[in-house]
Amino acid sequence: MGREFGSVGVVGLGTMGAGIVEVFARSGVAVTAVEISDVALHRGEVTMRGSLDRAVAKGKLSADDRDALLGRVTFAVGLDALREVDLVIEAVPEHLDLKQRIFAELDRVCKPEAILATNTSSLSVTEISVATTRPNQVIGMHFFNPAPIMKLVEVVRTVVTSQDVVTDIEALCERLGKVDVTITDRAGFIANALLFGYLNQAVSMVEAKYATREDIDAAMKLGCGLPMGPLALMDLIGLDTAYEILDTMYRRGGRDRRHAPVPLIKQMVTAGLLGRKSGRGFYTYEKPGSPVVVADEATPERQAGGEGAKHIAKVGVVGSGTMATGIIEVFAKAGFEVVSVTRGAEKSAQVCERLKTSLNKGVVRGKLTEQDRDAAIGRVTWSATLDHLSDVDLVVEAVVEELSVKKALFASLDEICKPGVVLATTTSSLPVIECAVATERPADVVGLHFFNPAPVMGLVEVVRTIRTSDATVKTATEVCRALAKHAVVCADRSGFVVNALLFPYLNDAVKMVEASYSTADDIDYAMKLGCGYPMGPFELLDVVGLDVSLAIQRELYLELREPGFAPAPLLEHLVTAGYLGRKVGRGFRDYSKR
Ligand SMILES: NC(=O)c1ccc[n+]([C@@H]2O[C@H](COP(=O)([O-])OP(=O)(O)OC[C@H]3O[C@@H](n4cnc5c(N)ncnc54)[C@H](O)[C@@H]3O)[C@@H](O)[C@H]2O)c1
Repeated sequence: MGREFGSVGVVGLGTMGAGIVEVFARSGVAVTAVEISDVALHRGEVTMRGSLDRAVAKGKLSADDRDALLGRVTFAVGLDALREVDLVIEAVPEHLDLKQRIFAELDRVCKPEAILATNTSSLSVTEISVATTRPNQVIGMHFFNPAPIMKLVEVVRTVVTSQDVVTDIEALCERLGKVDVTITDRAGFIANALLFGYLNQAVSMVEAKYATREDIDAAMKLGCGLPMGPLALMDLIGLDTAYEILDTMYRRGGRDRRHAPVPLIKQMVTAGLLGRKSGRGFYTYEKPGSPVVVADEATPERQAGGEGAKHIAKVGVVGSGTMATGIIEVFAKAGFEVVSVTRGAEKSAQVCERLKTSLNKGVVRGKLTEQDRDAAIGRVTWSATLDHLSDVDLVVEAVVEELSVKKALFASLDEICKPGVVLATTTSSLPVIECAVATERPADVVGLHFFNPAPVMGLVEVVRTIRTSDATVKTATEVCRALAKHAVVCADRSGFVVNALLFPYLNDAVKMVEASYSTADDIDYAMKLGCGYPMGPFELLDVVGLDVSLAIQRELYLELREPGFAPAPLLEHLVTAGYLGRKVGRGFRDYSKR
């Protein structure tokens, strides 16, 4: 028979503690919530009540259930209130000395059989445990933010944690409706080890003014389907907590520069910009603790009517692949006249066929009327010669991802197109400036990075080189608006925003499996259930293709020379072995038998 856990204690009622109290109380467990002072206790209680009231307002909790839930919680100052509890979960700030002091005190106060758990994100559970006389009853229970919503708990066992303690805590997680992954004591465990390098890199993009906070967040939400962008997530986590986690991970995790907190984070913490909890972080909130973002001086002004943008009516699309076909569809559906240029009549016929198939699907699904489909097809003219681009207002190049081919194409476009035309490349990895300088009009050249499938994905990265004019960028963003796509503007650096932030994370996940710290299945679970990602990294790698992923990661590594970006040897080996992902039936997983 496992332990019952009739009553638990939670120490620290901050961002995490308040949520953890709610999780237990919702499951019918009596909770004693402890803070350091009356002021902090009151603040924690207000946070918790606020969260419950929001759940009631949204219809997710009845008022009676809220009252019953609150009836199970006792609020107290000081650890003495925890004498009788069966389990304590500590959720105080991420400082080793503080946590060690609290554990030593808990060891004195709590009954001998009580289990002591820490919610630390990055500190050594082992180091915390040795502050007690019962290290075999100390364990990590790492909840995710917001605790009542995120399903994952990382259960962290040290080398001395008893097996029956691990088993009992695993059973408890199940009772709480959580999914646990049990792992050993390593900095950042699974999810944070994969998350915080990405968050830190996103902050470095803001610091370098590479792109705005809104654009970085929109790029990751729309480009990867994440529930929130990295900067909004930093605000939710709390910048002080994020700083401590990064700092610990840097020191404990092999001094990977990617975990060295970006200086901007420290500056913001010093200035009291801690995120949602203080009412201001990367964004400004209605009031401390509120999730509602309000406009501030950095909020972009809504541009009326695309001032300064050139008028675009006729668009040339060069190429005959997946991207070119999707882009033709997007423009034609949005009412633009489109000239498609391929390398021959046969290719044009194929593209036309694929376009019709895709539009027909839209009709079948009720997303498009037959008249709209016919009108879209009627707006496209088919050609095998670039000369037909002499009167277009915008050219979108989507040919093979080879620099020599793209440069030759841009040189030809320079000769053929009328002056003032915007020349865009859809490259996802090559420098846009290389295409620009192949012409005599680099100010008119811009990157328009659509995502696959173009008709579905709502994001376009507008890449401005150091030579791109303001008018060209404005025109490109206005065109995106007309296509009902969200444009994010970024500088001309390998990976732009999305791939630069996404692929190192995927590569890190591969390195984690390679190091035998965890399995592909558990890592996929951790990212989906702990961070709300739509797919785990291995599912995504298999969909994107391991060869494509490796090529992008190599480009990032070559351009930025960041040692941590070096492609994982396991990824290289799988590509060499021909395990390229779903497209060949085998990647990290075997699809042939499914
Ligand atoms: N913020 C996140 O997203 C997140 C997610 C998972 C885990 N964690 C971990 O949870 C822990 C808490 O982080 P947080 O973000 O909730 O911090 P926080 O700063 O929001 O809250 C910490 C709380 O602990 C209280 N406290 C400080 N000293 C205390 C003491 N001696 N006795 C009782 N209470 C005390 C503070 O008053 C404060 O309310 C950290 O270990 C952190 O790494 C955080």
